[in-house]
Amino acid sequence: MALGKTNPSGTVAWEKLREHFYNKMQTASMTEMFANDSTRAEKFNLQWNDFLVDYSKNIITQETIDLLLALAKEVDLKEAISKYFEGDIINETENRAVLHTALRAQEDAVVKVDGENVMPEVYEVQQKIKAFSEEVISGERKGFTGKAFTDVVNIGIGGSDLGPAMAVEALQFYKNQLNVHFISNVDGDHVQEKIKNLNPETTLFVIVSKTFTTQETLSNSETVRKWFLKSAKQEDVAKHFVAVSTNIQKVTEFGINPDNVFPMWDWVGGRFSLWSAVGLSISLAVGFDNFDKLLKGANQMDEHFKTTEFDQNIPVILALLSIWYNNFFGAESEALIPYTQYLQKLAPYLQQGIMESNGKSVGRDGNPVNYQTGTIIWGEPGTNSQHAFFQLIHQGTKLIPTDFIGFVKPLYGDSDHHDKLMSNFFAQTEALLNGKTEDQVRAEFTKVNLSSGQADFLTPFKVFQGNKPTNTLLIDKLTPETLGSLISLYEHKIFVQGVIWNIYSYDQWGVELGKQLANSILEEINSGTVKSHDSSTNLLLKHFLAKK
Ligand code: F6P
Repeated sequence: MALGKTNPSGTVAWEKLREHFYNKMQTASMTEMFANDSTRAEKFNLQWNDFLVDYSKNIITQETIDLLLALAKEVDLKEAISKYFEGDIINETENRAVLHTALRAQEDAVVKVDGENVMPEVYEVQQKIKAFSEEVISGERKGFTGKAFTDVVNIGIGGSDLGPAMAVEALQFYKNQLNVHFISNVDGDHVQEKIKNLNPETTLFVIVSKTFTTQETLSNSETVRKWFLKSAKQEDVAKHFVAVSTNIQKVTEFGINPDNVFPMWDWVGGRFSLWSAVGLSISLAVGFDNFDKLLKGANQMDEHFKTTEFDQNIPVILALLSIWYNNFFGAESEALIPYTQYLQKLAPYLQQGIMESNGKSVGRDGNPVNYQTGTIIWGEPGTNSQHAFFQLIHQGTKLIPTDFIGFVKPLYGDSDHHDKLMSNFFAQTEALLNGKTEDQVRAEFTKVNLSSGQADFLTPFKVFQGNKPTNTLLIDKLTPETLGSLISLYEHKIFVQGVIWNIYSYDQWGVELGKQLANSILEEINSGTVKSHDSSTNLLLKHFLAKK
């Protein structure tokens, strides 16, 4: 059964939220709310496994949360969650189930697609990933001159690149001796930069493309194969190239040994696929045991999401808060600031997850939506981002709800650095909450004996309004398990928002038009003749052809 088709803006809860916003919350002060209720943080935090999620620094009261929960109820979120996990065709525009959760389900779980339990097949592919990773890591599997592999290159784009690249970076501490590289862009310079120092005798290429029709991945694979064949023979391709795809025929046409094809399924969306064989390079980088722990961590969050009451449910609460700011305060973007360099690729990864999923303007009823959907997501690790764009979050004109993600323990045990890092983590959310009042600014000026003229001039620039909402996710330690849970948390947040916004989160028709046009423009570039475009595109193409 498909998902319901309720327009959220027509619900009773939505109307009440609007009234609540205009009458009470639009100008509410968080500082006052904290001052008036010493138990606020105790009320608005969630503790689960190694996670503490403090959402008390939001412009909310208990009434806000109750109304948001009523909205979730009115659009039948509970039923939608069951349909999601049970493999209903919730991706109706592609006629598919959405079952990345099955990829990390317990081995004895039963998950049916078209009446067939897919778990035995999922497990079989996992065993294949395990065996292959172990052979490569141990050096048992060798290249065409008999040498063990030293380097692995993942060739893929979008969901076939971002997830593995993010996870390999995040789990660097758990890495083995293999150097893992990623080639994604069809930019030839990028490809050359990546391969220039590689040794064809000791490099393994993992081509990842669900469809095996993606221009970028196929072009990059061809270029890399040509480079490889300068040193090796055609039959050696089978030893050095493996693939992850649903398109077995195309993969074998490329010259890949059918034994070295890792299948995936059309019920796994690209941007949710790192849990499948798309994660092969993760398993190669950190070993299958760690990959398995990543899956287990994600599965634990799945269980939390599936079984926990909404008022205690981390993905549900974070999704509702995001809707609160997006649809009532008019916030356009959200920032995501991890306080660990290991998570430097989390924001780019979630940009695909969040914006490709919920960047939609047509409701599930086929009508244009009359409210805002998909949030813009951006971010960089703290403390670097503090020295880059935090000025705008603190004193700019835009409201930017921000998630702060930090860890109690560092991985190398350097508490001096970690305490400095974390003192910034705590200081930022406190500063964003309280700001700095005019009185405080003036008191500081008095202390340093600033002249009254100078003080009058500078005061307005030094005042911080505060009242900027943040969520704090404080996790014990960055491990494969906690990383799995964290990613799964955001996946479910995406789902909840898509359900409430009444959109189809699991298709991506919006990326097609550009691809089609690029194909026809490439023909024009190849033939040297510009057909009729708008005058701007004509001008640019002619300039390019004349100068190239
Ligand atoms: O950008 C569109 C998209 O279809 C993504 O959803 C997907 O992750 C990416 O292209 C790559 O697709 P494929 O794995 O089929 O090469």
